[in-house]
Amino acid sequence: MHLLCSCCLLLLFSVGAQGALETPKATPEHVHLSYPGEPGSMTVTWTTWVPARSEVQFGMQLSGPMPLRAQGTLTTFVDGGVLRRKFYIHRVTLRKLLPGVQYVYRCGSAQGWSRRFRFRALKNGVHWSPRLAVFGDMGADNAKALPRLRRDTQQGMYDAILHVGDFAYNMDEDNARVGDRFMKLIEPVAANLPYMTCPGNHEQRYNFSNYKARFSMPGDNEGLWYSWDLGPAHIISFSTEVYFFLRYGRHLVQKQFRWLERDLQKANQNRAARPWIITMGHRPMYCSNADLDDCTKYESKVRRGLGGKYGLEDLFYKHGVDLQLWAHEHSYERLWPIYNYQVFNGSRQQPYTHPRGPVHIITGSAGCEERLTPFVIRPRPWSAVRVKEYGYTRMNILNGTHLHMQQVSDDQDGKIVDDFWLVRPLHGRTMYL
Ligand SMILES: *[C@@H]1O[C@H](CO)[C@@H](O)[C@H](O)[C@H]1NC(C)=O
Ligand SMILES: *[C@@H]1O[C@H](CO)[C@@H](O)[C@H](O)[C@H]1NC(C)=O
Ligand SMILES: *[C@@H]1O[C@H](CO)[C@@H](O)[C@H](O)[C@H]1NC(C)=O
Ligand SMILES: [Fe+2]
Repeated sequence: MHLLCSCCLLLLFSVGAQGALETPKATPEHVHLSYPGEPGSMTVTWTTWVPARSEVQFGMQLSGPMPLRAQGTLTTFVDGGVLRRKFYIHRVTLRKLLPGVQYVYRCGSAQGWSRRFRFRALKNGVHWSPRLAVFGDMGADNAKALPRLRRDTQQGMYDAILHVGDFAYNMDEDNARVGDRFMKLIEPVAANLPYMTCPGNHEQRYNFSNYKARFSMPGDNEGLWYSWDLGPAHIISFSTEVYFFLRYGRHLVQKQFRWLERDLQKANQNRAARPWIITMGHRPMYCSNADLDDCTKYESKVRRGLGGKYGLEDLFYKHGVDLQLWAHEHSYERLWPIYNYQVFNGSRQQPYTHPRGPVHIITGSAGCEERLTPFVIRPRPWSAVRVKEYGYTRMNILNGTHLHMQQVSDDQDGKIVDDFWLVRPLHGRTMYL
């Protein structure tokens, strides 16, 4: 009996060890792309469970050899949970890519390679029409928008993704295993398209450590705030969370505000070339959801700042920001052009043609375990369209004057449930009249 038992244990042990060997620990997982901001480049980021070299092999032939090589860096990530799980994040930036050309790549090292993925290098210059998918609040569970986003991606519908905060619910949970699961889930999209992000409240644990470690955004600020150019647009991503998690540093509110100010000034100096200024941040200034969030009241922190300082509505208005993308509320809402709770339609017939204030879109219904957020029964006059259905937003920046947005409903099998054009003249966009 005793003998048999130890035999059993031995057997169990060896099966367990073999099970672990099935996925070699140096084989890349969580492969995803991001655009580092310089024309002709693309960054590949992935995870391994043991240290390994960081290399990307790539080429232009879909099934032939991949003659090009790029090396990158390895950083060790230690999760803040009780297990202090440790893993390795690899970052490699590919350069001198030919604009608009499709590449094939794999990443890893001699110890293990990923499968092959494809991407198209972003086009250069201002005269092209970027197509994006925009959404926030997508979890590792109930990620309703993901199957369709996957199909759209395979069909080459987009040039980039904007994920406006709140990932996985939450990346830090279960000793960061929920983050692992989420990164695996989005790989079929994110390994083929730049997946651009901003932090949400669900990333706050351990000072946003999972967010900072797992994504690779432009600039040197760990992806908390940054900007990049895409065709006729300048896109600014920032953290609304600096206004809420003051324990991580009150100074971050001021630091980010100063950076935003400078970035907007520079963007306006370049506005003839890139007329659109688009912002993305997680928590909206306005919303009409039936919850306790500060956007349902008058005094949103993001809008008004802290103690009357560092509010973003005035700053964005002053610099003529065209479009503000938000999430956090698990629904879709479009606002009439607005400033300080007042509607500034272009005209009554065409509110979005030559609007006299920025346009806000709240798109946080990609799906997560918290499900959808209800609306208040009687919306205020600034609310144009509200959709309480799972889905995501398509944005086509056609040229310097015309931008097209559509809301896709996953509850209605891909039906377009909102559709509008934003039209602004090329000149005089630095300030609203
Ligand atoms: C949190 O992270 C930010 C930026 O990464 C850093 O500036 C700040 O000092 C950190 N806060 C704490 C309390 O460690
Ligand atoms: C803005 O335009 C919409 C659509 O025509 C209209 O319903 C709304 O009343 C207008 N608001 C103002 C303040 O003019
Ligand atoms: C942008 O596209 C629209 C729609 O096709 C067109 O009417 C407009 O003239 C274009 N604007 C510029 C600046 O090319
Ligand atoms: Fe949120």
